[in-house]
Amino acid sequence: MSNIVILTGAGISAESGIETFRAETGLWAQHRVEDVATPEGFGRNPDLVVDFYNARRASAASADPNAAHVALARLEAEHTGDVLLVTQNVDDLHERGGSQNLIHMHGALNSALCAVCDHRWPAPMVMAAGDPCPACAAPAARPDIVWFGEMPYQMERIFEAISRADIFAAIGTSGNVYPAAGFVAEAARIGAQTIEINLEPSAVGSQFDDALLGPATQTVPDWVAQILKG
Ligand code: OAD
Repeated sequence: MSNIVILTGAGISAESGIETFRAETGLWAQHRVEDVATPEGFGRNPDLVVDFYNARRASAASADPNAAHVALARLEAEHTGDVLLVTQNVDDLHERGGSQNLIHMHGALNSALCAVCDHRWPAPMVMAAGDPCPACAAPAARPDIVWFGEMPYQMERIFEAISRADIFAAIGTSGNVYPAAGFVAEAARIGAQTIEINLEPSAVGSQFDDALLGPATQTVPDWVAQILKG
């Protein structure tokens, strides 16, 4: 019985039609990170930031989970050990694909957060900067997204799962953003078997024991079938 921790990034949703960040024509080629993905950018121009995430929310709502999302849900349902899925993605394609044991370490588009009292509630499809918080009434709604300079969610739970992992897989992530890019080093340190499943080797690709290169809709179902065969 093996315990598995899986980290996913934008590449797993690419074939569902959701733009990645660091492709040549990706989101970070179209928008300045410091404008739309930092607390300072939100402070300077909250409308611009809220509009950026409104567009991401609309794009996620019109996308469907693909074979890679569905395969990971199948792994969780059928594997006898623990399977924890940690995603950097803010779309909800993993949950719509059937995954349940899931951590959104960078937040979620379908959640709103009060900047004053930390209350969370389901985000409307179109948020407006200054929407009132349903709990404290402060006009302080913000997207429930972890921006650069903020602490990703549930790090303690993630490192606890990695400390018990036999297998660590990273899928569709470029290995540029920490702390997620550091998970492979931690998994290797405790002796887990590590595999990178990506279109191309990532920035931390040399730290993995194995690599499976290709589009996620092919590689992930193949990998899951192999694990379930034992
Ligand atoms: P990136 O856009 O940096 O990387 C996406 C990775 O997916 C690349 O290595 C691609 O080669 C790979 N890829 C693309 N299409 C694929 C496919 N069909 N199958 C398999 N792999 C594919 O996205 P992330 O690594 O997720 O954070 O980015 C990490 C974080 O940076 C994001 O969560 C976001 C961003 O800034 C915040 O906004 C806080």
